[in-house]
Amino acid sequence: MQSIESVRWSPNQRAVRIIDQRKLPNEYVERDLTSLDEVCDAIRTLAVRGAPAIGICGAMGLCVAVVAHAAAGRDAFIARARDTARRIASTRPTAVNLSWALDRVVNRAEATPRNSAAVLIAMRDEATRILEEDRAMCLRIGEAGVELLKNGARVLTHCNAGALATGGLGTALAPVYVAAERGQEVSVLATETRPLLQGSRLTAWELTRAGIPVTVITDSAAASRMRAGEVDLCIVGADRVVANGDVANKVGTYALAVLARHHGIPFYVAMPTSTIDPSLASGDEIIIEQRDSKEVSTLGERRITADGVVVGNAAFDVTPAELITAFITDKGVIHPPFDFKSK
Ligand code: MRU
Repeated sequence: MQSIESVRWSPNQRAVRIIDQRKLPNEYVERDLTSLDEVCDAIRTLAVRGAPAIGICGAMGLCVAVVAHAAAGRDAFIARARDTARRIASTRPTAVNLSWALDRVVNRAEATPRNSAAVLIAMRDEATRILEEDRAMCLRIGEAGVELLKNGARVLTHCNAGALATGGLGTALAPVYVAAERGQEVSVLATETRPLLQGSRLTAWELTRAGIPVTVITDSAAASRMRAGEVDLCIVGADRVVANGDVANKVGTYALAVLARHHGIPFYVAMPTSTIDPSLASGDEIIIEQRDSKEVSTLGERRITADGVVVGNAAFDVTPAELITAFITDKGVIHPPFDFKSK
């Protein structure tokens, strides 16, 4: 089974150890994040990415960032933690896992009596739990989702919702890994995922490493592949699932859901409970992260649009619940009508 550890503690818990995903697939580099600035920069620049992984990194990063203040009194220490959590949360607004994980660590701090040292121990314990729970949830998603894969299934996925994006096997890719582990035949069509190419750089890398057949296609080739009968089902991840079942995920997900509906192909969203945001009624309320236009207007160092051209770079889009066949979750497969008014 997949053995990637995208985010973990350094041995002394003084740093968050990540795989630097900006360097993949050309170089495999692990980095230790030891300060608030390093944690924020890693999340903002997608060195660590994917909703569950940034939640885990944020939670651990919060502990790392406040260590230097542990000599302060308990109340001052907790106030510092609260403020630090706000700064980390602001790095990426769409994935709810980030603010959810930070809230968990801050709430645990507030519920811990005695002194700052005891509070810090409790915070680290909470961050560790978030990682361990995510690992377990990924496996349960895989076990629930594998039931939807017939032998020889051809799965289309978008972006990277695999081991690199989580603390475990991934979400969208978890059923694929479990199927392969059970000896089932399974293959993946990975959309390259413009502009930052998480599909071709990351999904293809981790599947190839695991010995699972994967074909990278351009985003715009999905329609003809579906029409040619080469896709049995789509499985994508999620950054936020709101009360009515609308889903924010990597931009392009909505287009794939429309295409899948047109071609009569099941469209599944795989997600852990931590990705549910019951506080928002519909997808219209989700804040969509707008990223630097250079991600679109340059390829490597090279400009690919003329000077002065206006470029839009919304990193996510919203897929309406009516286009989703079912959710694959750690609590099993959830069919419509969807109701996520609680986590
Ligand atoms: O911008 P990214 O690369 O963080 O976007 C990631 C996605 O859209 C994933 O599909 C989502 O976070 C789920 S990861 C299990």
